[in-house]
Amino acid sequence: MASFPSTFPVMLTISTLLVGSFILPTFASNFYQDFNLTWGDGRAKILNNGTLLTLSLDKASGSGFESNNQYLFAKIDMQLKLVPGNSAGTVTTYYLSSKESKWDEIDFEFLGNLSGDPYIIHTNVYTQGKGNKEQQFYPWFDPTADFHNYSILWNPERIIFYVDGTPIRDFENRESIGVLFPKNQPMRIYSTLWDAEDWATRGGLVKTDWSLAPFTASYRNFNAKACIWSSSASSCSSNSSITNAWLTEKLDSHGLERLKWVQKNYMIYNYCTDLKRFPKGFPPECPMS
Ligand SMILES: *[C@@H]1O[C@H](CO)[C@@H](O)[C@H](O)[C@H]1NC(C)=O
Ligand SMILES: *[C@@H]1O[C@H](CO)[C@@H](O)[C@H](O)[C@H]1NC(C)=O
Ligand SMILES: *[C@@H]1O[C@H](CO)[C@@H](O)[C@H](O)[C@H]1NC(C)=O
Ligand SMILES: *[C@@H]1O[C@H](CO)[C@@H](O)[C@H](O)[C@H]1NC(C)=O
Repeated sequence: MASFPSTFPVMLTISTLLVGSFILPTFASNFYQDFNLTWGDGRAKILNNGTLLTLSLDKASGSGFESNNQYLFAKIDMQLKLVPGNSAGTVTTYYLSSKESKWDEIDFEFLGNLSGDPYIIHTNVYTQGKGNKEQQFYPWFDPTADFHNYSILWNPERIIFYVDGTPIRDFENRESIGVLFPKNQPMRIYSTLWDAEDWATRGGLVKTDWSLAPFTASYRNFNAKACIWSSSASSCSSNSSITNAWLTEKLDSHGLERLKWVQKNYMIYNYCTDLKRFPKGFPPECPMS
């Protein structure tokens, strides 16, 4: 990926974004236009006139795609239907990344399981190459029976992970107390389906059953409200009218109630409560630090 000009880290504040120097389109899309099948030698496919995309995995390789656009803040929605049946050992990723040497990244990963056993929805945030902010959840539905909507809101103040419109994680910008927050590197959307039988399912205890290959995950209804980064213009711009509520979006009292419900009933791992990992004290953004 081409690196962006070093003049870039001009701080973008919400006010500069709102003034209109950056114009924020809403667009619904077609997989042919918005994504490039970058990995898997024919295992990734765009179907139905650009409205459906599938990734598959067999013993020889997984597959993946990436967005043609780079974004600097966005709200992206995608509907995914995960690998059905015995998906143990498989991992479907869906994330934003700058892929720089000190990369920023916002991750959703879906760890497969035996038929009838729950997937794990894994989330993490990296800033300048530093992650270690994992939270994991069980879905409250079967993510393989139908398509479900997975969204990432990334604005200068927060990152919210949503599943079917329900927030599962709210990662706030806490730069005021010294916590890094991704906001200076434009990112692309990436998705891959690959094999990680060494660790994905119950820590690697359950291996992939290759007699069931190929494994397939499906995607539809991609939508992005975004600030599109253009390196040639050294700025973030587009040409349509402004709909920028997502840029200041945060959870209202209903959203906070939903978030509590998910965290109480479906959260299975939170780095902020993992004492073994942080014997000398939790990271500053954690409530117990
Ligand atoms: C799509 O990906 C392929 C393989 O990585 C690359 O060669 C090609 O230039 C990409 N096309 C676009 C339009 O980015
Ligand atoms: C296929 O998609 C294109 C562009 O999105 C659209 O103009 C065309 O009408 C579609 N064709 C069919 C058969 O749906
Ligand atoms: C996906 O969820 C988001 C809420 O995070 C919502 O704005 C959007 O309309 C949903 N899209 C679809 C196709 O359900
Ligand atoms: C798979 O199912 C087992 C048993 O219910 C559970 O402990 C585990 O968290 C599930 N998910 C993964 C990805 O291992």
